Order: sequence, then structure tokens, then C-alpha cells
Amino acid sequence: MRVALLLLGFGHVGRRFVHLLEEQRAVLDAAGVTPVVVGIATGRHGSVCLDAGLDAARLAREVAGGGAVGPTPSAHTADQLIARLAALDAEVRVVVETTPLVIESGEPAISHVRQALRAGAHVVSANKGPVAHAYDDLAAEAQRAGREFLFEGAVMDGIPVFNLVRETMPGVTVLGFRGVVNSTTNHILTAMEQGEPFASALARMQAAGVAEADPSLDVDGWDAAAKVAAMANVWMGAGITPQAVARTGIGPADAGWAREAVARGHHLKLVAYGQRRREAFSTKKPPDVFVTVGLEELEADDPLAQLDGQANALELHTDLLGRVVITQRDGGLEKTAYALFSDLMRIVGQERKDVGRLFR
Ligand SMILES: NC(=O)c1ccc[n+]([C@@H]2O[C@H](COP(=O)([O-])OP(=O)(O)OC[C@H]3O[C@@H](n4cnc5c(N)ncnc54)[C@H](OP(=O)(O)O)[C@@H]3O)[C@@H](O)[C@H]2O)c1
Repeated sequence: MRVALLLLGFGHVGRRFVHLLEEQRAVLDAAGVTPVVVGIATGRHGSVCLDAGLDAARLAREVAGGGAVGPTPSAHTADQLIARLAALDAEVRVVVETTPLVIESGEPAISHVRQALRAGAHVVSANKGPVAHAYDDLAAEAQRAGREFLFEGAVMDGIPVFNLVRETMPGVTVLGFRGVVNSTTNHILTAMEQGEPFASALARMQAAGVAEADPSLDVDGWDAAAKVAAMANVWMGAGITPQAVARTGIGPADAGWAREAVARGHHLKLVAYGQRRREAFSTKKPPDVFVTVGLEELEADDPLAQLDGQANALELHTDLLGRVVITQRDGGLEKTAYALFSDLMRIVGQERKDVGRLFR
């Protein structure tokens, strides 16, 4: 099955995804899946398209080395590339959206997702913006179009959070959640517990490509707030934006608190929290949710307290299964790339009607 891919965004995640496709070529071949990158759009590094397929891994190396994918300013807009994808002769068309999070509006990613769905393409995204700002609209758009809008990489990299609930918990209602969901701040807090300065710990996350393009989104709690909004929108029908989340971040001044917490046998964590306040079942209104991001000193036996470095964890509070905790021990770019890969495979499986059997 030929799967035509249009990459909107070709930064750390988009490039790692391309390399993952190369690394998994034998597995994909065995499953009869041939992904072909037919277009790439960036912000400042040009754009390129070729119906027969680009050498995306080579372009990824060139961009990583300071080059561009095509002439700048870009020869094609995202809309033009989406239209071209729609006209292509391919069994499956997928737009891979990995532009940066724009916390104020979720754009241009929301428009990218909407345009792609309207053009008959599926969408996979690691960008929290569309889910955190416009989930209901985009889910309805996907349903109208008969296409998938999947975003497993938006929360906890490649760890299946949305898939876990959707695929394995039929009939379960998520009543609430709490988690450590931002790798950059958890890494900084862990480093400050051990006496390392805030700035050098942050610099390490920037060098690793894990911090957001604008790192204040991480340290001011915005990234976590966007994840809270995404989860509340998907699981609770909350219809909120990140701006509705009561939020505090972390700063160099928290180093003392982090060390004192350890001396008390505790750990200081940036905890993301969402809870239904009013049962949705008895009313036609969307459920009212209590949503926060803030620093908390956690006792050592709390499952969130033991997370070092880039580790993340999420505790779901459910009606039928009680509390369920899922932990990501090793976060990182390659796991976010895997989230896109797993979403892509889900789409292929659905198109071929052999979902779940592709890699057995
Ligand atoms: N990095 C992680 O570990 C991680 C983990 C989970 C989720 N995410 C999410 O994944 C997304 C991508 O992250 P990243 O680390 O890859 O970011 P990044 O390195 O900053 O890359 C963003 C890419 O988007 C391009 N871009 C910017 N504006 C664009 C536009 N209007 N149209 C098309 N392309 C545009 C950029 O091009 P230029 O460079 O030319 O401007 C760049 O290629 C973000 O939404 C982020 O929140 C990242």
C-alpha cells in the first residue's frame, strides 16, 4: 500500500520521524506499507514537493546541518501542498503536522488540520495546539470527511495515552487525571534537587531538542496547560483552551524548595490536573472541569514523585477501572516520532481493514 505523506513542519520531530521510517523500512516492507514523502513545508527553511517521492532522510540531514529543503522564501504555501496531495494518485494520503505550538491560538496548525481533512487526507500530529484549542471542531470535521485526526504525540511522547483510553477502555469514563507531563521542567526540577543550576539544566533540554522552540512555554507551564486542555477536551468534552487552565511554572528561585523537599523525603513536581466538577450525565451542558498546573511537594510513595529526569506519568481516575497509572521512563524525540509512526500504522490498518494485525 502506497502511503503519500505531506510533512508540515520539518524540525526535530519531523526529521526524527523521517529517520524512523528509514529505520523501520524492513518492518514496513514486510507489512506491505510503502510510505512516500511527497512534500515538505517549513517556516524559514523553504518547501519542496515531488509526486514520485523525495529523499526525505537526505533532506533531514541537510536541514540538521544548517541547509534548507528548498529555496527561501518558500515556493509553496501549506494550502498549495495540501491541494497537490489531494490530487495525487495514492491509496492513502496523510498530512503529518509538526509545526510549533502557538499557545495563543493553536494556529496555523488548526488550519492545516482542517484543510487537510477537507481535502480528504488523514492527519497525524504531535502538535498540542489543535487538540487544546479546537478538538471538538476538528473531530467533527474528521467525522464528516471520513478521515482520521490522530495526535498520540501531543501528550507523553509515544506512550499510548489517548489510544489507551480509546482502544482498551470501552465504556469507561475518565473522571479526572493528574500527571507529570512536561519533560523539560521535570528534568530541571530533578537537576535542581541535585544542586545543578536552572539555566544549565534548561540548556541541556534545548540542546536535546526536547524543550519547545520557545522554552518559556515549558518553564511557564504553558506546555503542560496545553496538555491538560487537550486531555480535558478529549476525555471530558470540556471545550476549553490552555488559557482556561490555572497555571504556575517553575523558575531558578524554586531550587531551594526542590532541595528542601528532598531533605524532607519528598519531591517537588509540576503537576497537571484535571477533574470533572459536575457530572455531565444529568445535564445537556458540557461538564464543568477543574484544571490546573502547579508545583506540588509530593510524598515519596506518590507514583508521580519517583519520576526522574525526562520521565513522565499520568494517573487516570476512572469510573469502571479506578485509578490507572501509565509511566514513561525514558522520554525523548524518538518516542514522539514513534507516536506519529503508530498513528500512521493505525490509519493504514483501518484502510486495509487489518488494524491490529500489521505487525504480529
Ligand atoms: N520536541 C519534542 O520532544 C516534542 C515532543 C512532543 C511534541 N512536540 C510537538 O511537536 C511539534 C514540533 O516540535 P519540534 O521540536 O519538531 O519543533 P521545531 O524543531 O521547532 O520544528 C518546527 C518545524 O515547523 C516549521 N514551521 C514553523 N512554522 C511553520 C509554518 N507556518 N508552516 C510550515 N512549517 C512551519 C519549522 O520551520 P523553520 O524551522 O524553518 O521555522 C520547523 O521545521 C511542536 O508542536 C511540539 O510542541 C515536540
